[in-house]
Amino acid sequence: MKYTIAVIPGDGIGPEVTNQAKKALDAVAYAYNHVFLYKEAQMGACAIEATGNPLPDKTIDICKAADAILFGAIGDLKYDNNPEAKVRPEQGLLKLRKELGLFCNVRPIKAYNQLIENSPLKKEVIQGTDIVIYRELTGGIYFGKKEVSKDGLSAYDACLYSVDEISRITHLAFKAAQNRRKKVTLVDKANVLETSRLWRKTVSEIAKQYKDVTLDFLFVDNAAMQLILNPKQFDVILTENLFGDIISDEASVIGGSIGLLASSSVGEKNALFEPIHGSFPQAKGKDTANPLASILSAALLLEHLGLHDEAEAIERAVEKSLVLGITTEDIKGKKDFFTETSKVGDFIADYIINQEDSNMNFMNIHAGQSTII
Ligand code: IPM
Ligand code: MG
Repeated sequence: MKYTIAVIPGDGIGPEVTNQAKKALDAVAYAYNHVFLYKEAQMGACAIEATGNPLPDKTIDICKAADAILFGAIGDLKYDNNPEAKVRPEQGLLKLRKELGLFCNVRPIKAYNQLIENSPLKKEVIQGTDIVIYRELTGGIYFGKKEVSKDGLSAYDACLYSVDEISRITHLAFKAAQNRRKKVTLVDKANVLETSRLWRKTVSEIAKQYKDVTLDFLFVDNAAMQLILNPKQFDVILTENLFGDIISDEASVIGGSIGLLASSSVGEKNALFEPIHGSFPQAKGKDTANPLASILSAALLLEHLGLHDEAEAIERAVEKSLVLGITTEDIKGKKDFFTETSKVGDFIADYIINQEDSNMNFMNIHAGQSTII
């Protein structure tokens, strides 16, 4: 089959990790006889430099016309350190999410056995953890009215949610739970926030349609603690935009590295796949960033296109790279060697195409004699 994929490398390490995901996709195309047509587009700080606009119209058009979107990372220290900046890279991503209606952000978190020792958390606590966070992505405080007073001495960001916005993601979270361990935890702050009370009411009502799924509630402060104390209690976590942003970074500690976490952002018509990590400008161009989150995002993309075997081929290759320790510095653990970003990508691509031989080739990687690179 032939598919058009919009590719937005973005800022910082975005381009280098996205290149590895493309290698994995090319390997899938080769092994399974597909054609992936990449349409590159700009967004973020690089787009501001080039056009003055973090999300040029052309990028929106390319994304709308594509079967799926692969995105790298966004953000630049120049803007992070300048609260006065009127135009910011992140505005590009937020506008794209809104423009394409990507309301449902799915962030799977699992403890990989091979990396269990990497986490600062105790092995007994995290082993077997398998959570999926459903984060609402186009509402809440991110998109409410914001204003700074004329004298610059006060500011506000309004948090708004409608029943419709809550309902559509809630149905998706419950459907996901039905295919998993049948538990949804709504994370909110209903003891304080009006929007959270609307979430509770709406979600409780919808839960009646999913009798096989248990619903429970946690305040976000408690949820933040429970995630570290006993992450295995969670199956599907459903939450609003800002809480989801925060607890998904926190939950990444369970996986051993934020460099492993992929996500999908889906709407009625479009879907975008991206690592949950940021642009890590300090590592830009150094060939040290972990490409696995981007590669796993490509697997989610294939899954979305209905290419299940192909997605699994990528996941198997990633697992293999972890077993063999062909990983970047952030997850080298107790091993005294690590591999460059590009070489991890080469291994994954190679393993997708010739699984059996890759083991052999790997033996030479650290000796610098690999035949696959
Ligand atoms: C994420 C990121 C974004 C967010 C930023 C880059 C705007 O942190 O996708 O989690 O806050 O949603
Ligand atoms: Mg975030």
